[in-house]
Amino acid sequence: MIFATVSAVILAIESSCDDTSAAVCKDAKILANVVAGQQVHEQWGGVVPELASRAHQQNIVPVVNAALKKAGIAAHEVNAVAFTRGPGLMGSLLVGVSFAKAFASALQVPIIEVNHMQAHILAHFIDNRPSFPFLCLTVSGGHTQLVLVKNFLEMEVLGETLDDAAGEAFDKTAKLLGLPYPGGPLMDKYAKDGNPENFFFPEPQVAELDFSFSGLKTSVLYFLQAEVKKNPAFIQENLYDLCAAIQKTIVDILLKKLQKAVAKTGVNEVALAGGVSANSELRRRFELLGKDKGWKTYIPKFEYCTDNAAMIAITGYYKYLNSDFASQDIEPLARYYL
Ligand code: KG4
Ligand code: ZN
Repeated sequence: MIFATVSAVILAIESSCDDTSAAVCKDAKILANVVAGQQVHEQWGGVVPELASRAHQQNIVPVVNAALKKAGIAAHEVNAVAFTRGPGLMGSLLVGVSFAKAFASALQVPIIEVNHMQAHILAHFIDNRPSFPFLCLTVSGGHTQLVLVKNFLEMEVLGETLDDAAGEAFDKTAKLLGLPYPGGPLMDKYAKDGNPENFFFPEPQVAELDFSFSGLKTSVLYFLQAEVKKNPAFIQENLYDLCAAIQKTIVDILLKKLQKAVAKTGVNEVALAGGVSANSELRRRFELLGKDKGWKTYIPKFEYCTDNAAMIAITGYYKYLNSDFASQDIEPLARYYL
């Protein structure tokens, strides 16, 4: 349990997938959050782990320097270095973890390991303050989870995807439509000019609070194969409507489970987190549903939805208050459960 407010400057590193990010926070206030994306994966239709790891190595020093400069903080003023331990790509995580250890060792300050999924949730505390307990629907490229957040560092997963994550559902179906990686943001953009009612894709029947998205990808694939056989220009002619229909199906699946979670727990303080919470239709319908049901709703700012080190910094800060430090022989975890 966290009681006191302690003055601390935290440097945070995030390198779990294909974004290299560094942030600086002072007493829970974010002073800088720098993110370097990696365009190298676009042509391959997905993140190539080896390329991601090499790009992190190139980016990490300039990104950390830029964050410290933007924050107006000198290296010797840093009180602790927080880093993403996992889950993520091993080669990517290794770069951030090794950098954090070396930097902290040179400064003789402690290191703080952070679970990336916990950090997505605690991103809410950068600008806001949901009260405990609250429910969080965390939707990213690698995860889809319904989490009961009991306290800063005490969380229970109530349900999660049995196969693909919601972000993967966006990216993989976007790829079938010929869109470059990551397709989620583009699908969001094109869907704005489409009619979601022109096509229909079935929702999976999954028990309790778990999710499944692999069937959607398969039904979109079979549908497109059949239509393109009849009309080779089918996708180009219907791109916007297809994007709108696929997006609507994903949002329907997510919000139905969220309603079920509220009914089951009786907790009606509800939050969205993770990269897919940048989706404008999910945000719009989440707010509408919340209003209709009388929930108190929270969505992070856009910059704190997708991967960023600010969320690692804020989580690091709460761990710092608990003196929850890691030892120098800590290793990254590709799988790291909440
Ligand atoms: O949290 P995040 O940045 O990285 C992971 O931890 O996975 O999430 C990335 C995912 C990708 O699948 C991306 O397509 C999706 O978030 N995403 C979106 C949007 N912005 C990002 N999906 C739909 N609509 C968006 N606007
Ligand atoms: Zn993420």
